[in-house]
Amino acid sequence: MTNKLEILFLSDKQVNELAANNMSEVMHDMERVLSLFDSGDAMCPDKAVMPWGKTIEDENTLGRLNAMPGYIGGEYDMAGIKWIGSSPQNYKIGLPRATVLVILNDPITKIPVAISDGTTVSAKRTGAVGGIAVKYLSVKNATTMTIFGAGAQSRTQLEAALLARPSIKTVYINDVMFERAETFANEMSEKYGVAVTAVKEPGEYCKKSDIIITVTIASEPIVHADWIKKGALMMNMADYEFTDDCVRLADKIVVDNWKNIKHRKISTVALMYDRGLITDGDITAQIGEIINGKKPGRENNNETIYFNAVGMGIEDIAVVTRAYRKALEQGVGTKVPYWE
Ligand SMILES: NC(=O)c1ccc[n+]([C@@H]2O[C@H](COP(=O)([O-])OP(=O)(O)OC[C@H]3O[C@@H](n4cnc5c(N)ncnc54)[C@H](O)[C@@H]3O)[C@@H](O)[C@H]2O)c1
Repeated sequence: MTNKLEILFLSDKQVNELAANNMSEVMHDMERVLSLFDSGDAMCPDKAVMPWGKTIEDENTLGRLNAMPGYIGGEYDMAGIKWIGSSPQNYKIGLPRATVLVILNDPITKIPVAISDGTTVSAKRTGAVGGIAVKYLSVKNATTMTIFGAGAQSRTQLEAALLARPSIKTVYINDVMFERAETFANEMSEKYGVAVTAVKEPGEYCKKSDIIITVTIASEPIVHADWIKKGALMMNMADYEFTDDCVRLADKIVVDNWKNIKHRKISTVALMYDRGLITDGDITAQIGEIINGKKPGRENNNETIYFNAVGMGIEDIAVVTRAYRKALEQGVGTKVPYWE
């Protein structure tokens, strides 16, 4: 019997250089994870959510800790957990809202084999899931996009959307803290060479947009149905950000994991389901079914499509698993004694 065990510790720099920085690779991971999840080669229990305060408004001010365990099969074949803290006031002391730790567990012995930072991993994989939605659900010649929320997630949403649709040339960004939108516009237009404009009144810009992405910490809807043009893709990547009428406009409603969305009960479609305004039958597909060819994605330029992703721990586990295997090959990381 082995009585000495070590855990590999990966810092932010190490995990990012090994796996998270390359968005094309993370998008490949997400396409595989969503496909494997649809094939049943994954386990993804509902998130355990520990919110501070009593209401969504409290949670969006005071924060929460979420535990997201899972197992992802296929070439990943790894179990583990994402442990994510969110504290929206962190920006006041120069820290990100979300900070993440990922633990990998061997799927046979269940023993922990790695502990890694997952902060950038989380932002990159959320952007990458958005990019996969853009790939399968937006019009092929998409040129114009509006993003709400100029925080960590908006940057990776843009990065992945531009990889999925290089035809995007015009981007509008809105944030309640306008200076954040301006910073985003300056940084991103320089980085990607596309026209990025900060806008205070987003309605008229949404009306021109092929893709509308929300990644805010708003707890009341900020996108309205009369702003949505026919053929648009609406992407609700956080909470209650689109009105119910936006969902009613959609010819197709596509999600990442409908069971987890209903359990989390925080996004527009989840709240509509909770109030009896939509049923299970109104969900057109989980995106893995589209990736696996069981259901069609976008079928023509006139379809208006609604996408909502709650996010799954298996997405983070997949990226960190790729980093962990490379780290072992390259001798990167710090081996920490576990059982001495
Ligand atoms: N679906 C997923 O898998 C997934 C993964 C990670 C994060 N998220 C969600 O994405 C959201 C954003 O995360 P982040 O890390 O970028 O946070 P962040 O704090 O870095 O950025 C959020 C931004 O939203 C802005 N904002 C708040 N209310 C707004 C409003 N009414 N209109 C416009 N902008 C508004 C804030 O000013 C801030 O700039 C969070 O709600 C988070 O839970 C989802």
